[in-house]
Amino acid sequence: MSLLNKLSDSLLSATGRTRDRAFLDAAMAASALVATADGDVSFAQRSRLDDLLTSVEPLKVHDVHDAADLFRIFAENILAHPEEGRARALKAVRRVNGDSDGARLLLRIACAMARADGPYSRPGMVQIRRIAMTLGESGLELDDEDAAEAFAGADRPYFITVGNHKGGTGKSTTAMHLAVGLMTQRHRVGCVDLDGKQGTLSHYLANRRETRDSSGGSLPMPCLQRIEPATGRDREAAEAEETDRLEEAIASLADCDFVILDTPGSDGHLTDLGHARADTLITPLNDSFLDIDVLARIDRKRRLVLGPSSYAEMVSEQSERRVANGREPIDWLVMRNRLAQLDARNTRDMSRLLEQLSGRMGFRLQPGLSERVIYRELFFSGLTLLDLPANKEEARANPSRWNARKELRGLLDVAVTRRQTRHYLH
Ligand SMILES: Nc1ncnc2c1ncn2[C@@H]1O[C@H](COP(=O)(O)OP(=O)(O)O)[C@@H](O)[C@H]1O
Ligand SMILES: [Mg+2]
Repeated sequence: MSLLNKLSDSLLSATGRTRDRAFLDAAMAASALVATADGDVSFAQRSRLDDLLTSVEPLKVHDVHDAADLFRIFAENILAHPEEGRARALKAVRRVNGDSDGARLLLRIACAMARADGPYSRPGMVQIRRIAMTLGESGLELDDEDAAEAFAGADRPYFITVGNHKGGTGKSTTAMHLAVGLMTQRHRVGCVDLDGKQGTLSHYLANRRETRDSSGGSLPMPCLQRIEPATGRDREAAEAEETDRLEEAIASLADCDFVILDTPGSDGHLTDLGHARADTLITPLNDSFLDIDVLARIDRKRRLVLGPSSYAEMVSEQSERRVANGREPIDWLVMRNRLAQLDARNTRDMSRLLEQLSGRMGFRLQPGLSERVIYRELFFSGLTLLDLPANKEEARANPSRWNARKELRGLLDVAVTRRQTRHYLH
């Protein structure tokens, strides 16, 4: 047991009810996260803490000094070891997860703390956003107008998930190109490799780091979080562990503009979690009839659509869940990948079928990426087409590369536009 847990146990053992205790723990952790966001805890923040402890109903039942000690321990921990300290504080915050009244109150406490020193600061709001993200959907409804405004201004990352239930369709390649493309547009980008066991995206980025280091150049690098599947016989415990791992990873990327989630090519809990987060979902599909079954069950002989695939059902389930929580549905894009340049008949048949499915299943068709050897070659240097210099000479000397870049730009534009529209809507 860590020192912090021991201390909080001994401080609070007298206070009885676990729910009250969990709330106090979470409230002190959240206050410490916000109070330390700009550096040291100020005098105004300390006296705001006293006000909160003597005025907020569920906090009043505790001894003020014990509670203030708990706050101090969280704050000192964060100041001494920011990453670990924050992770520990967020873990305490997560104990309120599932209690939406508690979550809302906790956010109001965090906002009160953030305003102790005057108007909201960006680092303070980033911490509030982390707390809100840790609390899940319920945390996002803020009834205080100022807080809601500052919260919206703190730019929640836009989540782009790349997924389907099939390996080798270009998910990791697409994720990497999106990440680099967005960075070249000066967005802050985080990546989550949910296919951590295979780790293609992680390897791609490791290759990029090597290229950067050996060339002494300044290749932009996204923040990467690699998530390995949890092991253990107890499935429920393993899934809870995976949920925790992802939440921690995402909370650490709270100040990114975009978070790209690359998912495994199979069904499973990590795949579901990645899709549950998606503001935009991009499903790359190999350009062959064999790959349509990622989206729908097909009677090949009679060329009939029998119904959605298990993957499409999962996507619509996750999307409905978002809507039930007052969010926009998943913006689902299906993108054909490795388009064969020569097979016009196949291309036409695929287009027809995909258009039919698009209306039925609620995805939008995105112009695809052509089959090009360069995608495979670039992996080893960790570079993408969007790192290579683009100029008129290239258009003349290497039209294929020029066109490939154009295809990628189209994809990037969609992602960026969707994020801007979301800001507009909220
Ligand atoms: N448009 C493309 N043209 C040529 N090769 C591609 C293209 N897209 C992906 N690939 C290659 O296909 C292989 C599988 O791609 P990957 O992105 O790892 O798929 P997934 O993540 O879906 O398993 C890789 O070798 C990759 O370089
Ligand atoms: Mg992959």
